[in-house]
Amino acid sequence: MAPLLTSPVALRGLTLRNRIVISPMCQYSATPDGYPTDWHLVQYGRFAVGGAGLVFVEATCVTPEGRGTPGDLGLWDDGHIAPLARIVEFLHGQGAAAGIQLGHAGRKGATRRPWHGSTPLDGADLTERAEAGWPLVAPSAMPMADGWPRPQELSLADIDQLKADYAAAARRALAAGFDVVELHAAHGYLIHEFLSPISNTRTDAYGGDHAGRMRLPLEIAAILREIWPDDRPVFVRVSAVDHMDEGIQLEDTVAFARALQAVGVDVVDCSSGGISGGATVARIPRGPGFQVPFAHAVRQAGMASMAVGLITTPELAETILQDGRADLIAIGREALEDPNWPLHARRALGDDSFDHWPEQHGWWLERRVASLRA
Ligand SMILES: Cc1cc2nc3c(=O)[nH]c(=O)nc-3n(C[C@H](O)[C@H](O)[C@H](O)COP(=O)(O)O)c2cc1C
Repeated sequence: MAPLLTSPVALRGLTLRNRIVISPMCQYSATPDGYPTDWHLVQYGRFAVGGAGLVFVEATCVTPEGRGTPGDLGLWDDGHIAPLARIVEFLHGQGAAAGIQLGHAGRKGATRRPWHGSTPLDGADLTERAEAGWPLVAPSAMPMADGWPRPQELSLADIDQLKADYAAAARRALAAGFDVVELHAAHGYLIHEFLSPISNTRTDAYGGDHAGRMRLPLEIAAILREIWPDDRPVFVRVSAVDHMDEGIQLEDTVAFARALQAVGVDVVDCSSGGISGGATVARIPRGPGFQVPFAHAVRQAGMASMAVGLITTPELAETILQDGRADLIAIGREALEDPNWPLHARRALGDDSFDHWPEQHGWWLERRVASLRA
């Protein structure tokens, strides 16, 4: 039987050439006004050349104050459309579908790039890199951690504006030609902050019980679904659990997945963690496929799911799919290590031709085999 990992899959009217997805990965390399550069074209382009079915462009912010770092991509201006369209066009030319993740960092915004510490920007950054912080917003006025800036609580009018911002960004993503839009509702950023009781202590319709905390994420998912064409899929990335007793539990996420399905979301992308403490805090032991049980639980509830997190071998990826624990496999850092991972996975799973490689490469590699054997 042909491996599932390298078999095409249809999502609404979109057919992916295989089930390997490049997970959204911030490059922290946008211009100060949120524009992609040639770095982004090459970064995403090499994953398409490398054979991925779907390549996600990183968390792209719906407003300037929604940026996590000064290097985040933006979609708050019509000017952002053309340079993103250039990336999409290249991905399509290489046979990959193009996805974009819409983000807002909420109370976790205005931080340094990871290699500068992932901590809040302050006067030192202004001196060293001419980078200043900006005011943060969140569901409730609680800082991310000790020593972090206190965000302003979003008013009902702010929430209406935020919905309009997501809608405008989604329309721009569509104008840029993306096939898939993903709502970032994970990793302690704004939408996750609404979902989690740890960061949402509101007493109005957008807080309180789980239904209240899900309200805004569901409203925004429904807005994206309405804007996104019927033949193209909408994904939502969740932190399936907060890894804290008082935080989101897996049963909450299963209920959220069912509610997302009811508003027409197609795939739930199952990550975890990030709601409080340092950005890189590991609250549970991490090993190969450690988040797969979350994708499995969501799939058992009848929602298509994507597994992500330390899936580094084609064999593990194939087993997850064969066992019915997820519909799609997202890889992140392993693709940084080997952008040709999807093409190598195909070989590892038994197809030793170079038929799926770009002809500029495959033609030579096919012929090299005979020379190596001689
Ligand atoms: C450099 C880098 C940037 C990331 N940026 C994002 C992002 O923009 N949005 C997101 O949801 N996750 C982001 N992540 C998390 C990845 O999408 C992925 O979930 C995580 O790396 C675990 O998968 P892996 O073990 O295959 O790398 C990022 C990870 C890395 C390494």
